[in-house]
Amino acid sequence: MQIIHTISELRELVTAGKQTGKVIGFVPTMGNLHQGHLQLVKMALSTSDIVICSIFVNPLQFGEGEDFEQYPRTLEADAKKLQQAGCDIIFAPAVDEMYPESDGGGRDQSQVSVPGISDILEGASRPGHFTGVATIVAKLFNMVQPDKAVFGAKDYQQLQVIQRFVRELCFPVEILSHPIVRENNGLAMSSRNGYLSESQKQQAAALYKTLQGLKKQLQTGAYSFKNNSLKSYAGIEQQAIEDLNAQGFMTDYLTIRSTDLMPPTEKDKHLVILVAAYLGKTRLLDNIQLSI
Ligand code: PAF
Repeated sequence: MQIIHTISELRELVTAGKQTGKVIGFVPTMGNLHQGHLQLVKMALSTSDIVICSIFVNPLQFGEGEDFEQYPRTLEADAKKLQQAGCDIIFAPAVDEMYPESDGGGRDQSQVSVPGISDILEGASRPGHFTGVATIVAKLFNMVQPDKAVFGAKDYQQLQVIQRFVRELCFPVEILSHPIVRENNGLAMSSRNGYLSESQKQQAAALYKTLQGLKKQLQTGAYSFKNNSLKSYAGIEQQAIEDLNAQGFMTDYLTIRSTDLMPPTEKDKHLVILVAAYLGKTRLLDNIQLSI
């Protein structure tokens, strides 16, 4: 495995791989890797010849007062894990390499924005977040030129934003989604779980339990549009929020949506329930998909 830090080194390796007809798989990350990331690498390995993993804590996707400074930088430990997982190349650029024109702040003038889908839910609470994500992912795609790129389904809205700009801006890359990887108690794996105390990690399992409970309720049909109005979704959403808050969460949103994140209509048979909630200072995300 090679660890490189510059775009020129990366381009050389990618060009050599492409010249010999290799399929390039890509896993973009911000490092501080856990088993969930390693599963993404495994998926990339099973569909590509060369797997490149980027490690870059992207300032542009963090809002003011968020955890950019605090975000763990653990390159040495990450490299060990990636080597064991079978990754071929780690691309770990400095901020100046990725944003050479903006004095370290990550605010170059050219940005990729995906209005609409970026402004709701996570985007409403974190203005500019998805422009930061779309911009860095687009830049990375232009550098790595992957045939396939793998993202985790935990960040469901992020995946939708990326799929949208890839489609609309005609990036020649296939986006693969990996199912959420969970701890034994159901907590979705996330680098930010490292901010939780042991007792909070136990408490946090309630998020997934709540989603599972809602899925069951929706699938019993009692809340289908046939028997009830859209209001009944609002009712069970509100009840779930109150239950979570009573268990110590501060819920930002819990919402039942169609798979493209719009409010569901009678025709939607595939739904996703998304939740964002704080436990202490830690913002946790989870979601569950279901068919009715
Ligand atoms: O999901 C993440 O870790 C980040 O948002 C990503 C896709 C690596 C972009 O910085």
